[in-house]
Amino acid sequence: MLILGIETSCDETAAAVVADGRRVMSNAIASQHDLHAQYAGVVPELASRAHVEKILPVVRLALEQAGVGLGMVDAIAVGNRPGLIGSLVVGVAAAKALAWSLGKPLVGVDHVQAHLYSGVLVEDDTPAGTASTPFPALGLVVSGGHTSMYLLRAWADPQRLGATIDDAIGEAFDKAATILGIPYPGGPNLDALARTPGANDRAHEFPISRIAPGSLDFSFSGLKTSLLYRVRGVPQQGQPRRDATALTPQERIDLAASFQRAAVRAITLKLERALARAEELAGAPVRTLFVGGGVSANSRLRREIGEFATAHRIEARIPRMDYCMDNAAMVAGLAHALLAVGRASDLTLASEPTTAC
Ligand code: KG4
Ligand code: ZN
Repeated sequence: MLILGIETSCDETAAAVVADGRRVMSNAIASQHDLHAQYAGVVPELASRAHVEKILPVVRLALEQAGVGLGMVDAIAVGNRPGLIGSLVVGVAAAKALAWSLGKPLVGVDHVQAHLYSGVLVEDDTPAGTASTPFPALGLVVSGGHTSMYLLRAWADPQRLGATIDDAIGEAFDKAATILGIPYPGGPNLDALARTPGANDRAHEFPISRIAPGSLDFSFSGLKTSLLYRVRGVPQQGQPRRDATALTPQERIDLAASFQRAAVRAITLKLERALARAEELAGAPVRTLFVGGGVSANSRLRREIGEFATAHRIEARIPRMDYCMDNAAMVAGLAHALLAVGRASDLTLASEPTTAC
């Protein structure tokens, strides 16, 4: 079964063709980074206009790269939530038009849930993991907009176990990069700096938020503020303000490495608790850990998640680097699983700013 996926929730116009829910035949992405870079953030009105210009060329490119004609596509999938509303409506309108004109099913997909699916995607005929069924599974989404954990009994209806109460982890990485004077894109550049040989990740003991005993929620604002004070000094009246330019190169490296250690530890600490909670709710051992979202590209997080999975004898499904970022292959892949349980949408499908999961 071939599904054409469309994703326009933020600043990437993406389309992909995925076979049987796992083999990626094409994964086309038109990034708008250059358009927004001068504003140091995504400008919603510019993003939606750029999607309008790019959507048809990107869909054509995805079909061309997959070597399939529109007539061979069995369903059209689209990320219809969460995201910038003006951006979402472009993808949703294109998907509806294609589905209606081809007489094929339309499947609306939640972008956050689709990130969880990205560890399933492959480019060739790699066997599908070791477990006969991956469920019950634990899901972790770490992105620029979300940080949450789920119990997955199947691909439909993930049960949320915990989420951030303030900043998302990707947002914390981006703000930390700004505080340290690290250029855009902040998260990946901070990761690279923290990997510098000789970096001391114990130079600073940053706070790791536990919130309350047993809590499965995350908080990153204290960590961010702690870094801010470490760099600029605790605000005092009449004191001259320092900034990152006062740091030596080694100090900047050590701060980046120490921040990254604390941010990743905050995730693995809550994963420990979430695993116990998920097994209690499912009444069975968790088999798999699905991870997704932009921050799943982080080198330290990938390593520590691997260690966590080995220690608990569960299979970690961490996406390939190109499926960590926003893409349409994850949308098409998840749609295959949703269609299999009768979760097709109709032409009343709405764009929604918030996640359903
Ligand atoms: O999933 P994504 O592409 O967009 C959202 O759905 O939010 O995630 C983007 C986020 C950004 O905050 C970016 O800085 C972060 O993922 N990111 C990283 C790394 N690569 C991307 N953060 C830390 N380390 C990385 N290697
Ligand atoms: Zn995303």
